[in-house]
Amino acid sequence: EPVQQNPLVSMHKDAADFYHQILMTTRIGERGLSYAKERELDEDLLKHFDIGYAPGNGDVLYTFLKEKGYSEEQLIESGLFVQSQDGRLFDRFRDRLMFPMKDETGHPVAFSGRRISNNDKEPKYLNSPETSIFTKSKLLFHFSEAKKVARKEGHLILFEGHMDVVSAYKAGIKSGIASMGTSLTQDQVYMIRRITNNVVINYDGDAPGVSAAERAVGLFKQAGNFNLGIVVLPEKLDPDEYVKKYGPERYQQEIKGAISPTDFYLLRLKQKYNLNNEREKMAYLNDAMTEIASLASPVEQDIYLQRLGKESGVSTDALKASLSRARRRQR
Ligand code: UTP
Ligand code: MN
Ligand code: MN
Ligand code: MN
Ligand code: MN
Repeated sequence: EPVQQNPLVSMHKDAADFYHQILMTTRIGERGLSYAKERELDEDLLKHFDIGYAPGNGDVLYTFLKEKGYSEEQLIESGLFVQSQDGRLFDRFRDRLMFPMKDETGHPVAFSGRRISNNDKEPKYLNSPETSIFTKSKLLFHFSEAKKVARKEGHLILFEGHMDVVSAYKAGIKSGIASMGTSLTQDQVYMIRRITNNVVINYDGDAPGVSAAERAVGLFKQAGNFNLGIVVLPEKLDPDEYVKKYGPERYQQEIKGAISPTDFYLLRLKQKYNLNNEREKMAYLNDAMTEIASLASPVEQDIYLQRLGKESGVSTDALKASLSRARRRQR
């Protein structure tokens, strides 16, 4: 016997289908489709991600859902509408490319809409507010699909934005997920750990992206038992821009070349010091040694020591001597 579905969930399914049909088959959707083309989203991608278009007028979704029989109260609870002073409802999303946000079982429970116009008084992305079926901190974009791929391929790839998940998918990286602009949460980390311990973090290559990656590494470490790789893209590019600029093969190489959390830490550390200055170089080496001393495996320690020796011109004997001092300090 069929399970009675939450009306807000079926409403979101109806809304997602509606927006998708508008994009794919209507005159009014052509504006959305030409933006999708600009972003190099082909038909397969638009279908896989159920991407849609919300027209500019204020009440198409309202009229559609009302005719489907949803009550005014349900429409208010859905978060899909904004209420005017006199209590009338208007579509929240207007003239936006619509990305359904799905729960773990693949049901759309919220939307994120990309602004199409270049009116930057409007936010670039507009997200559904939290509702009884949508808790932002507990949802990861594309998780329901990516987890199936991850069970076969053995890892998940974490991105900043939807467009990155979509572009990576197009480039053959199909186990991508994204936390919606909000920084990663502990709940999301636990969702990920139920699927796999192997995670590649591929945030934007700009300064906010790199700091967010540092923060994410901290969260994964806190949760424990993760095997992490970090990809830092050059030229401040985000994954979507990188794929566009260098193509799918080179992008896949970047993913394969993901570095360890220790290498990522050392890379960041190095950027904080002027290594031409002897005093700063000493400070850098000290900090680096403290990090290396915290590694559990002596073999790993040795690998990083040798690398540090090579790059700094300090003998590995001297580094080893100060490593044992750093280790004593940590006890
Ligand atoms: P970015 O600014 O990196 O956007 O924000 P993007 O993903 O590269 O988007 P495009 O390529 O310009 O279309 C990363 C993520 O932060 C959230 C979105 O989830 C976005 O994907 N965000 C960003 C918002 O929620 N609202 C905003 O106004 C901007
Ligand atoms: Mn689908
Ligand atoms: Mn960004
Ligand atoms: Mn970006
Ligand atoms: Mn982008």
